[in-house]
Amino acid sequence: MLEEILIKATRAGAVELERFFNQKDLAISNKEGVNNLVTEADHAAEKAIIDTIRGAFPDHYILSEESGELVMDSTYKWIVDPIDGTVNFANGIPICCVSIGLEIEGEMTLGAVYNPLINEFFLAERGKGATLNGHPIHVSDKTEVISSCLVTGFPYTYLDMPNGPLECFERFIRKGVPVRRLGSAAIDLCWVAAGRFDGFYEHKLNAWDSAAGYLMVEEAGGKVTDFKGDHYSPYQPHLLATNGKIHDEMLLWINGQKP
Ligand code: IPD
Ligand code: CA
Ligand code: CA
Ligand code: CA
Repeated sequence: MLEEILIKATRAGAVELERFFNQKDLAISNKEGVNNLVTEADHAAEKAIIDTIRGAFPDHYILSEESGELVMDSTYKWIVDPIDGTVNFANGIPICCVSIGLEIEGEMTLGAVYNPLINEFFLAERGKGATLNGHPIHVSDKTEVISSCLVTGFPYTYLDMPNGPLECFERFIRKGVPVRRLGSAAIDLCWVAAGRFDGFYEHKLNAWDSAAGYLMVEEAGGKVTDFKGDHYSPYQPHLLATNGKIHDEMLLWINGQKP
């Protein structure tokens, strides 16, 4: 039942994403900065998702990017990013998705990430693996950072924090390590899970960016921690997700201890 509603809610959000994609005169507004956008599609997708979850489980806690925290229940917590990759979406770039994670008693248990524009539906359940369109997926088997393909993202603010995103990025780029920037943290994580990237790191993520995707990586055989190498919680900012084999070396690069 929980998985069924998760899939239904994800698909309901994706219907709105698809409906508004490339629509002329899309209503777009700014949040804190000029490029931190929210569109009418984000709101429509969020409403469709919340209505679906609420319709099935009226008492469950929902944390969703555009509307904040709704209803308190300690057992079930749905963490919703109605559109992850809003800037891509607003520019007609088909790298965006709906992302929903479900935490049960504090443990991320189910996750779904769906990009309807290229028809990729990622699903994970704790202890049961991760799938892409119903087929099991697994992380890559690269063993060295120098021959890895990485992905990252950048926050809109706090770029000058010590050992910040630009410093880390420069370290990899100066050594010729390819680092992509797709613009959707949820898709970045799923693509690590699918073995397309060997690692993903990002500073200052929010819980809704990573909730479903980090479970995807873990269930595909990868590893997710903070930048100290400690247990990852989506309620703290920094995330490193890898295939597991390059994880310890990635921590050294990120923390400026290598090369
Ligand atoms: C953003 C994307 C992006 C990441 C930003 C997020 P949004 O989410 O995940 O890849 O770099 O930090 O805010 O605003 O498109 O849902
Ligand atoms: Ca946003
Ligand atoms: Ca997001
Ligand atoms: Ca969003």
